Formats: sequence, structure tokens, C-alpha cells
Amino acid sequence: MSKQFRIAPSILSANFARLGDEVDNVLRAGADIVHFDVMDNHYVPNLTIGPLVCEALRKHGVTAPIDVHLMVKPVDRIIPDFAKAGATYITFHPEASEHVDRTIALIRECGCKPGLVFNPATPLEVLEYTLDKLDMVLLMSVNPGFGGQKFIPYVLDKARKVRQMIDARGLNVSLEIDGGVGPANIREVAQAGVDTFVAGSAVFGAAKDSDPNRYDTVIGALRAELAKA
Ligand code: DX5
Ligand code: ZN
Repeated sequence: MSKQFRIAPSILSANFARLGDEVDNVLRAGADIVHFDVMDNHYVPNLTIGPLVCEALRKHGVTAPIDVHLMVKPVDRIIPDFAKAGATYITFHPEASEHVDRTIALIRECGCKPGLVFNPATPLEVLEYTLDKLDMVLLMSVNPGFGGQKFIPYVLDKARKVRQMIDARGLNVSLEIDGGVGPANIREVAQAGVDTFVAGSAVFGAAKDSDPNRYDTVIGALRAELAKA
């Protein structure tokens, strides 16, 4: 397998009562990145976790990249807090920031890797001027706010478009997808040019007991499908 694929379990579907163990177990099973969904009950109709939880994971000993997906509005105020809390990537939705270029620069100044997130129906125009400033483009394949929704297939066309833009400019920007991804469709998503795969319910919903190895099977199944892409 020549392509470098990364699996990013979304802790939105983890058991929050023992989050440190959940993250340890999923990384031990072979996950590459921790996807960290931040919701504010304003930009999206749900409320989740903030910088304190990110910091707690670092203090717990998590060294893997933490991919902070901000579904908040406004965006800028909370960025330095996440940088201090140990975020690796910070991605935001362009429609949630008044000044997209400024927000990208702020994430970079804080020492983190910036990314832009596009909702399923949001056009990609803003990438024309920003792609070379980014480390990540995140395509939503569900409407943001909840785990466990169904993958929206037209986003595959969008993925092909972004892959083309990245390659045409010779950039080293990650292309990530978020929502409704699992063993049944990850291969098709990879073939559309995606290299980083968020999976929440598919991973953490895989088993509910306290067996520390319970994520091996599902991560193995995702990897096996990626190997065929
Ligand atoms: C949705 C979140 C996703 C979500 C994905 O707003 O951004 O990261 O957790 O969950 P699944 O994989 O269950 O669709
Ligand atoms: Zn997400």
C-alpha cells in the first residue's frame, strides 16, 4: 500500500465516563488521530466538550495528534485556549468566522495546524485563496451536530474536486472526511481521494463491554478495506 491513510476515531461516540481509557484503547487498536468534536449549541444544535477535556487527555498521556473540529461561532476567542490545551489540528467552518484568513493565521500563530471544514452543501470557493495556507481540508459527509447519521453520497464528488485542487498545486494538504464512514464505504471514500477518515459510531459503537481489545476488529476491518483502495 503506497498511500498513507489515517484513521481518526471521533470521541463523540466514546463513553465519556471513561474517556482516557477509550482513547488509549482505540489508539492501541491502531487509530492514528483523535478526532475531537467541539459543539456550542449555537453554530450546531448540540453541546459537547471544550479545552479542559483536551488538556485532560494530554495530561492522561495521550501523545497522538488531536484533531479539534470546531463547530462553534464565533471561532477566534477559543483558539488560543485549544492551542494551550494541546490541540494539534484546529479546523473551523468558514461560515462561522467573520475573517477566514485571520482565523487561519491565528491558528498558525498559536502553533497549531489549520484546516477548513465544509458542510455538505457549502461550496468550496474559499479554498481558491486559502488552500496553500492549510494543513487540512475537512469535508462533512453529514450535517454537523450529531454522530450516527447517514453518509451523503454527493460529497464524494466534492472529495474528487478537492483532491484535484491539492494535487494540481502540488500541496501536501490532508483531505479528511467526517460523517457516516465505516467498513462498508471507507474504500469508496478513499478512492475519491480522501486520506484521513473520521469514524465515530462505526468505531466506538462496535462494542460496549470493558474488553480493552474490543476496537481491534473494527479498526482492522477499516484498514483491510483501505488496503484494497
Ligand atoms: C458530526 C461530527 C462527527 C461525528 C461523526 O458533527 O463532526 O465527527 O462524530 O460520527 P459518525 O462517524 O457516527 O457519523
Ligand atoms: Zn467532527
